[in-house]
Amino acid sequence: MRDAITVDWKQLWSACGAVVLMVALSAGVLLATVLGQDALAQSNQRDAVEQVSPVGGNVPGGHLGVTSDADIWRAVRGGIQGTVSIPDKQAGQMIQSEGDNWRARRNGPLTMGGIYGLFGIIVALALFFAARGRIKIEAGPSGKTIERFNDIERFAHWLTAVCFIVLALTGLNLLYGRHVLLPVLGPTIFATITEGGKYAHNYLSFGFMLGVVMMFVLWVRHNIPNKYDMQWLAKAGGLFTKGSHPPSRKFNAGQKMIFWLVVLGGLSLSLSGLSLLFPFSIPMFDWTYSLFGLGTVSPVEEMQLSQLWHAIVGLVLIVVVLAHIYIGSLGMEGAFDAMGSGQVDENWAREHHNIWVAEVKGEPLPVDHGPPTAQPAE
Ligand code: HEM
Repeated sequence: MRDAITVDWKQLWSACGAVVLMVALSAGVLLATVLGQDALAQSNQRDAVEQVSPVGGNVPGGHLGVTSDADIWRAVRGGIQGTVSIPDKQAGQMIQSEGDNWRARRNGPLTMGGIYGLFGIIVALALFFAARGRIKIEAGPSGKTIERFNDIERFAHWLTAVCFIVLALTGLNLLYGRHVLLPVLGPTIFATITEGGKYAHNYLSFGFMLGVVMMFVLWVRHNIPNKYDMQWLAKAGGLFTKGSHPPSRKFNAGQKMIFWLVVLGGLSLSLSGLSLLFPFSIPMFDWTYSLFGLGTVSPVEEMQLSQLWHAIVGLVLIVVVLAHIYIGSLGMEGAFDAMGSGQVDENWAREHHNIWVAEVKGEPLPVDHGPPTAQPAE
């Protein structure tokens, strides 16, 4: 006989109730935990957002990671400066927006201005040569010479000149090389030349600085403006009129302009160049801005301003020096000897620097500033 199974329904219902209750409780706790964590995460993200931008605001859609905030990125794009614990404090600025302005100016007005300046002076010199021809020694060479520049003076000149020419060519390569040389030479040769040029530019800058200092010390006393300069300027140096030679001591007003442009331009070029050579350690612009109460300049901006200034002064000097090279060689008979052998023809000297000749030879100074008295050619 089978035992009858008696079911205690009351007990069974209690057991089921307990299980359902436990499951419901567990689900509730689980749900609360998940929702709580999500809420916590969102609130943390909001806090982070609000630390940077008090405006806040979520991108709609509710997707994970879409709490990107247009205002934050606008602030980052605007160059907001955060704080970092690493030594390089500049890393606290994710985007330096002035970099865009710098690039636009370098690749736009600077590059184009340089092209106009360089082509402009070459065309002007060609036209001048076509119209005026080579300026001759009007009385013809006398055959007698007079010392114009001694060995030290010529050393200073050629040190400056050779360094400047290499600096100019390698500098122009940095600005225009990728447009002019790269397509012709290809990347390998262009990269090799540019790397070599960069080293040459860095090291020869010291020769240039030494040369400018030497020229300054040797010639500054001859380059103080005097009464003859106004006459020289009024007649445009006699450059456009045959037979017109305004009086002049050792240097005329045109040469004095070249001298001061080279000395002051060379100084400015050297300071901005040193600032580029030793980044973030010579804040020339920051000092200048502070001096004139114009505010401060950030370290990265300092480098950008130095680059622009260095290139502008360099281009201006190249244009000026091209005119100088022309008149010192092709443009004027007898001029190159002054820096070649150091001895110039006496008639050339009397025509272009009559007061200087009289001073050197101990002759009475020419009173009448009409055409100089040149020696007859032999
Ligand atoms: C191949 C290039 C060059 C040639 C043929 C040349 C030629 C000359 C000549 C002939 C003189 C003497 C003028 C006189 O007797 O009165 C002179 C002077 C001078 N040179 Fe040059 N030069 C060259 C490059 C340079 C460069 C690159 C610089 C500076 C960056 C420079 C700066 C000067 C200065 C400051 C003077 C004295 C003022 C003057 O005469 O204009 N020269 N040069």
